[in-house]
Amino acid sequence: MKILFKNISSLVTIKANGKKKLSGSEMGEISEIRDAALLFDEKILWLGKTTEIADIIGSEKPEKIIDLKNKTVIPGFVDSHTHIVFAGNRSNEFARRLRGATYEEIAKEGGGILTTVRATREATIEELVRNAELIAKNAIAHGTTTMEIKSGYGLSIDAEIKQLRAIKKLAENLPLRIVPTFLGAHDFPPEYKDKKDEYVDLICNEMIPRVAEEKLAVYVDAFVDKGYYTLEQAEKIFNTALNYGFKIRVHADELANVEAASLAAKFNAISADHLLFVSENGIEKLKKSGTIATLLPGTAYFIRMPYAPARKMIDNGLAVALATDCNPGSSFTENMQMILSLAVINMKMTAEEALTAATLNGAASLEMSEICGSIEVGKMADFSVLNINSYTDLFYHFGINHVAEVWIEGKKVHSI
Ligand code: NIG
Ligand code: FE
Repeated sequence: MKILFKNISSLVTIKANGKKKLSGSEMGEISEIRDAALLFDEKILWLGKTTEIADIIGSEKPEKIIDLKNKTVIPGFVDSHTHIVFAGNRSNEFARRLRGATYEEIAKEGGGILTTVRATREATIEELVRNAELIAKNAIAHGTTTMEIKSGYGLSIDAEIKQLRAIKKLAENLPLRIVPTFLGAHDFPPEYKDKKDEYVDLICNEMIPRVAEEKLAVYVDAFVDKGYYTLEQAEKIFNTALNYGFKIRVHADELANVEAASLAAKFNAISADHLLFVSENGIEKLKKSGTIATLLPGTAYFIRMPYAPARKMIDNGLAVALATDCNPGSSFTENMQMILSLAVINMKMTAEEALTAATLNGAASLEMSEICGSIEVGKMADFSVLNINSYTDLFYHFGINHVAEVWIEGKKVHSI
């Protein structure tokens, strides 16, 4: 159905002008149309000023005209890094952290990721889908229209496949656009604790071929960090992944600098994520390879770590994306508005840079920026209507949900 919005107070388009992503200083140059109008069916057909709509009504004959009464419209958020398919709950570990235990201490005792692995292995696929649906619906209600979801809480062939199938089911059940990633290299399963290289062989010889055969993922990711996967182990996994036609994303330098960002660059990873402890050399390499730096300030906040050097990365010309990292251990939020708030206050990004990072650059990190991530003619009609008159209010008035409506491919999928 052809719909025309009129009287949009602020239409934030994040105009990319044919570029796949915006890098460095380009990130701050978002385009906004005041007193705007927008015509769409499942795709964006036209955008301009409300004063220009008479001609459009005559030529395009929209079936419905909606007066937005000075609300704001922004592109749907692209949450390009999540782990929302899991079972169980780690609020007891969280409470221990509030009393002083660290994320790494809890992990060393066999808690952390492995607590969720135990629960996820025991859960049925239906339970996994049901739990994730609640989170995904919350994400939509906060303005997310595209989401990447990783496996990585199974760590056995059957449990990883179960998680990936749950992601597929979720994509069938929900209007959300979902991109699956295989993260068998999230941690080492307890049964391989003393023979880690054998688990790496299992990933390479059995898991990746099976995921490829069942077409259950687009990307392969690995947690390359102190106490997790070494550079050598990750190289083996990424070489196998490339042979099977996957592209690479990397959990890089989250807990310590292990030069995982350089590894991501070496493999032309589409995205290097976290980067709390990235080195100057890592930043330089990411710039050369064109790898997107996906920053997850919810994690630094939730596990009380220093924030990634976003300013330095943008000032050095990198393309930065923002995502939630939604997971039960290190960042339990599906709310991209919270992430925007953390990015501008704690990582010194501007409102404009943060919006670009949470939309177009997130889409670019999923190789989807030709179809979504900005409001431009020909792209999918994915956007949120916000109960504010200017996009600055999204940052200024913090801690509440500003979303009034969410539209995906021209269909209203949520309203309050
Ligand atoms: O992205 N870094 C590794 N994985 C997650 C944490 C997962 C968990 O604690 O369950 C992350 O922070
Ligand atoms: Fe993560």
